[in-house]
Amino acid sequence: MKITVSAPGKLMLFGEHAVVYGRPCIVTAVGQRMKITVELTDDSMFQLNAPDVSVINYQKPMSQLGQGNIPKGAKFVEIAVLNFLKKQRIKKGLKITTKSEFNSQFGFGSSSASTVCVIKALSELFGKKLSNKQLFDLAYKTVLDIQGKGSGFDVAATVFGGTLYYITPGKVIESLNIDSLPLIVGYSGLKFDTVTLVNQVSKLAEKYPQVIENVYSQIEKLVEQAKIALVSKDWVTLGELMNFNEGLLSILGVEGKKLADMIYGAREAGAYGAKLSGAGIGDCMIAIATDDTTQAVKAGITKAGGQIIDVETNAEGVKVER
Ligand code: PMV
Repeated sequence: MKITVSAPGKLMLFGEHAVVYGRPCIVTAVGQRMKITVELTDDSMFQLNAPDVSVINYQKPMSQLGQGNIPKGAKFVEIAVLNFLKKQRIKKGLKITTKSEFNSQFGFGSSSASTVCVIKALSELFGKKLSNKQLFDLAYKTVLDIQGKGSGFDVAATVFGGTLYYITPGKVIESLNIDSLPLIVGYSGLKFDTVTLVNQVSKLAEKYPQVIENVYSQIEKLVEQAKIALVSKDWVTLGELMNFNEGLLSILGVEGKKLADMIYGAREAGAYGAKLSGAGIGDCMIAIATDDTTQAVKAGITKAGGQIIDVETNAEGVKVER
């Protein structure tokens, strides 16, 4: 009794931070995937190997799930199992192995992807078929149990795949009909904690409620326009809206010098537009450019110290591997 499930990573295109406060965002699923194999065993033990996040041969009795000191890299998988099994006691054990096609430092959402994979795998193994929305709800609950905060946009992307227009907490999950997106992705090499940045922005909003509410409203408006530009492949407008979005993120204090340098590097090399993607300060930036300028834009980002990551966007959501 063994199953392998895979799920995509994600990249936020528009609307980060404002999405935490009920505004819409646009997110795309990326081709690099998280793969998780779950095996039912006869020894009532929970065993986890997640070498990408330095978890090797972590084990405990199934009856102690969620208790004691849980290593950071094991939390999402362990709590996902606990949340799935909540009302049912099982005599079996579980042996889980995770393998990621992307570096967990990129900010592609390895925690959400592993949470979703584990719940999907367990639902298949126990013959308890969940709809994508039920899977989303349980995975999002798991993320909130651990992090306390988050809009769930990453969970939606990894469950449903494609490119989504999303409103928290899954109030709207709309699949956008997109077949191409000339996106360039640059990794900053810097890591900054998402929840810390969300808290930082919320402090700013406490001090300047009207200013920050206004920023969120502007972001909401540009997300609505970006949705139309994306579907109609109006890359010029999409680029301009990226630049607007970046300006507003800069007001929120999450731009960071390294990302700003990479973004300016992309723009000066001819990109239609560029912005950070995700919580900010670290992780990745994205740019939109024509075929003619792609090479120059990549060089501009590299010159500013960024690393180009080849990313397929609009990828398929969670699935059982055959
Ligand atoms: O840092 P990331 O890639 O997980 O993105 C965070 C996006 C925020 O809007 C800041 C938080 C959220 O949960 O939506």
